[in-house]
Amino acid sequence: MKLEKIDINPFVCSKVRERCQDLILDNDTLKKIGDIFLDNINRGLKKATHEKSIVKCFPTYVQDLPDGTETGKFLALDLGGTNFRVLLIELSGEHFEMKSKIFAIPQHIMLGSGEQLFDHIAECLAIFVKEEQVQHETLPLGFTFSFPLSQKGLTKGILQRWTKGFNCSNVVGNDVVQMLNEAIERRGDVQIDVMAVLNDSTGTLMSCAWLNRNCRIGIIIGESWINIQDVKIEICAILNDTTGTLMSCAWKNHDCRIGIIVGTGSNGCYVEKQENAELFNDVDMGSGKVIINMENGAFGDDGCIDFIRTEYDREVDKHSINPGKQVQEKMISGMYMGELVRLVLEKFTKEGLLFGGKGSDLLFERGRFYTKYVSEIESDEPGIFTNQREILEELGLKHATEQDYVNVRFICECVSRRAAHLASTTIVTLLHKMDEKKVTIGVDGSVYRYHPHFHNLMTEKIGELCDPSIQFDLMLSEDGSGRGAALVAAVAARQKKNALS
Ligand code: GLC
Repeated sequence: MKLEKIDINPFVCSKVRERCQDLILDNDTLKKIGDIFLDNINRGLKKATHEKSIVKCFPTYVQDLPDGTETGKFLALDLGGTNFRVLLIELSGEHFEMKSKIFAIPQHIMLGSGEQLFDHIAECLAIFVKEEQVQHETLPLGFTFSFPLSQKGLTKGILQRWTKGFNCSNVVGNDVVQMLNEAIERRGDVQIDVMAVLNDSTGTLMSCAWLNRNCRIGIIIGESWINIQDVKIEICAILNDTTGTLMSCAWKNHDCRIGIIVGTGSNGCYVEKQENAELFNDVDMGSGKVIINMENGAFGDDGCIDFIRTEYDREVDKHSINPGKQVQEKMISGMYMGELVRLVLEKFTKEGLLFGGKGSDLLFERGRFYTKYVSEIESDEPGIFTNQREILEELGLKHATEQDYVNVRFICECVSRRAAHLASTTIVTLLHKMDEKKVTIGVDGSVYRYHPHFHNLMTEKIGELCDPSIQFDLMLSEDGSGRGAALVAAVAARQKKNALS
């Protein structure tokens, strides 16, 4: 691997610098990864190769982007990021208002049974709806469920695997919308009224509209109304957080075609031609396009990027809840970034390169170096180590010297830059594939949002790797998981209405 030009602080100890080389990816290596990735995308899209493909490229059944005219009140559920949230969103013209409540998902629920998980979600929903007193209204609900779903329609998603520390039993292989419906049904205070279970032909949709004029005409397939006391909730879409991110950016910026998350997990989606999405089997609503949820956190699960993995990556993987799975995600996302840094620090300390060879119990404790530390350390002004000093003291490393501060910051930079560069490679691959001259990329996630240099690192790297004839910009999504869910619901409503009119 060639040495990448990196504005290294000249005071980083040369031994530390040398030992970090395997964390630095030069542009040729990134281009090579991009080529392998493109091949993975194409295999995911094609019927003949999809099953064996690692990068799944699931069609989301979202066929159109918002045009800014979406209006209405919506409920959203957001599971799979840092928090579980229930939201009430009102869209009107250029504006949106949002109320939300965060609920904890305790560890025993993350690792318990699926039934427990969905009971918990249904309970939070009921509490929220009662608190907000949204009685006597019909509320479409978008469910942002940020795990790999093989979608069979806008309201049917079969869980393929858990990621990001979740591992509830009896959910993989099942339709999570149905599981949520069943959980709501199990609650005594709630009843579900299945109005119609339809197949996806337009004719059947028409007959649904004819039978029930009060429903938003044929908005969903397999339509159900849930009464929570006086509140009617219509689950009208299940979506991934990447889709929500793309939608929420597209609402404001009509060039948005890609959605990326660099948060607890990492993943991307983009707008693809329906003819290329061979698994998509719905009626074309007129756009000829469909959003593809790539689930590219799994890229590398077959060993195809082993040539860039380090001993730290292998160690993180070995001790994770899902060894061998989500290989690329473990090199990029917030769930693992702090631990990667900690492993380097531990190793270098034991080799006598840091802290005079004397570590601390906390430094040697798995998971104890949080990803937010990386952001905090890199937020220090160059040469000043206010945040870092505090963090190292907290970790029992009061004896750290100025030289240690310089070295530790460099190690954080190597790990976060690598993540930014890998995420950039994903984007460049899509930009080259998509055949558009101007593309906005919606980005969200705690790492992108809170790391002080992530946006710039990505912008710079995409600029270096991308064909100069393509214009791009990275746009921070404003709460894609919440507002995006409302927008998917709203766009679906608009589309089906158009199709029926
Ligand atoms: C994980 C999930 C994926 C999600 C991503 C970001 O990779 O599998 O669905 O989009 O995390 O939250």
